[in-house]
Amino acid sequence: MMQAEGDKNLDYKLRKCSLYVTIGILAVLIALLAGIIRGGGDMHGLSGELVKNSTLLQAKLNKVSMALEKQSKQVEQLKIDTSTALEKQSDQIGKLTLQLKNAIDRIFNVTENTEVKVDDLLECCSSDNSTNLQILKTTKDLAKTLKNMTGNIKNISNSTNKVVDDISAIATELQRRSSSLEVKSCEDIKRLLPSSTTGYYDLGYQTIYCNMDELCGSEGGWTRVAYLDMSNATHNCPTGFRLYTIGGKRYCGRPESDGSSCTSAKFFTNGISYSQICGRVEGYAKASPDAFFHYLTDRNNIDASYVDGVSITHGSPRQHVWTFIATAQTEIVAGGVYNCPCSPGNTQKVPSFVGKNYYCEGGSADPLWDGKDCLPIETDCCSSPYLPWFYRKFDTATTDYIELRVCCDEAIHDEDVPVSLYEIYIK
Ligand SMILES: *[C@@H]1O[C@H](CO)[C@@H](O)[C@H](O)[C@H]1NC(C)=O
Ligand SMILES: *[C@@H]1O[C@H](CO)[C@@H](O)[C@H](O)[C@H]1NC(C)=O
Ligand SMILES: *[C@@H]1O[C@H](CO)[C@@H](O)[C@H](O)[C@H]1NC(C)=O
Ligand SMILES: *[C@@H]1O[C@H](CO)[C@@H](O)[C@H](O)[C@H]1NC(C)=O
Ligand SMILES: *[C@@H]1O[C@H](CO)[C@@H](O)[C@H](O)[C@H]1NC(C)=O
Ligand SMILES: *[C@@H]1O[C@H](CO)[C@@H](O)[C@H](O)[C@H]1NC(C)=O
Ligand SMILES: *[C@@H]1O[C@H](CO)[C@@H](O)[C@H](O)[C@H]1NC(C)=O
Repeated sequence: MMQAEGDKNLDYKLRKCSLYVTIGILAVLIALLAGIIRGGGDMHGLSGELVKNSTLLQAKLNKVSMALEKQSKQVEQLKIDTSTALEKQSDQIGKLTLQLKNAIDRIFNVTENTEVKVDDLLECCSSDNSTNLQILKTTKDLAKTLKNMTGNIKNISNSTNKVVDDISAIATELQRRSSSLEVKSCEDIKRLLPSSTTGYYDLGYQTIYCNMDELCGSEGGWTRVAYLDMSNATHNCPTGFRLYTIGGKRYCGRPESDGSSCTSAKFFTNGISYSQICGRVEGYAKASPDAFFHYLTDRNNIDASYVDGVSITHGSPRQHVWTFIATAQTEIVAGGVYNCPCSPGNTQKVPSFVGKNYYCEGGSADPLWDGKDCLPIETDCCSSPYLPWFYRKFDTATTDYIELRVCCDEAIHDEDVPVSLYEIYIK
């Protein structure tokens, strides 16, 4: 009995020992990694040499990795009839090995595929070129992995040795550096990579669409926050909008209503700060919208359906950005009470909060507000050099959401102004 107990204890100690060997190798590997990442400045001994010679580095890492795998297998074998605690730790070592392998893979992908040296990870973005984004992303990923790894090592070995502290410090430094170079917006991307082209950019946590060409008289760095193109079969009306099909074309308008109403879509900017908005909207005059003609609603209240058309505002309380006005009229009628305020001879009053920040078109023969095929009475309405875009520049920057509302002050069967397209950029 006593003898068996003793054997068991010895056996357990051996297994434990083997576990510590594994942890030891892991520590060496991490030390190597620490050396690699540190690079440049205070590099010393082997790690400095390794940074300079990536062939040598690869060979060393492969060797350590193989040893680690071997140890891992041995622990696996010893797992038979072992304590659950050890089994759990063995699992954790397995996971850690995988994590570490992935981290190493990523480093080599960056260093080999793009010829970025590992110390570039710490010197990210000092120069403007297309490797910067990738470096930044790798830096962030690596910082995250290292942080997680230190947590795991601490949990397994319950010790705070120097290597763990070092690697934790490196992770913190990497995080600090990459967060001071936070890429949130297309403007950030343009600043880092001036030669970036229009298209989608993967920021890791989300994908954004950037217009890097000239828009609204301003070159590049525009982040798209709203986009609907109902001629594209994969696009659907936003929640709260009703789908119309008119003449084979799809539109989004107000839901059923027997009176004045607005339907709204909000576009959040994910913390992007902006002071410029550039956008466009195309709509359709269904039945008989009549611009600012006062029928039921207070036309001076930005929260009411002050227009037959589309209202674009930012934030809460709403601040006016642009108003797209629709009228069914194609010539001056009834003394101009139903016509565009920009048509000569009209007698409409524009709400003071709108001022000159509006577009207006009439009729249903061609899309509204595209600046094309304007009627003779609409010459002044279609004179903006920005058309079909609207452009606003504010004195102070904001992170407000942008809201688009389709509004009319009469029942659906009398009037609606559904939209077929919108596209809004900020910077
Ligand atoms: C890197 O190390 C390998 C193996 O020791 C060696 O063959 C190679 O010449 C070294 N390369 C450089 C650039 O020092
Ligand atoms: C490394 O790059 C290769 C090819 O570009 C890719 O298949 C692989 O998934 C990458 N590995 C990691 C860990 O990113
Ligand atoms: C891009 O930047 C990296 C790191 O900053 C640098 O090593 C590389 O030479 C640069 N490439 C070009 C084409 O400027
Ligand atoms: C952190 O480590 C745990 C345990 O190994 C793993 O399940 C998790 O996916 C890791 N998280 C990240 C972000 O790497
Ligand atoms: C380490 O253990 C603590 C306490 O059990 C847990 O909260 C934490 O998430 C663990 N860390 C990792 C990286 O697994
Ligand atoms: C780590 O050690 C401390 C003090 O020795 C102990 O209180 C704690 O429970 C240990 N944690 C783990 C995860 O073993
Ligand atoms: C339709 O919209 C989808 C999603 O926005 C986009 O990926 C696709 O390129 C669009 N198709 C056309 C023909 O524009």
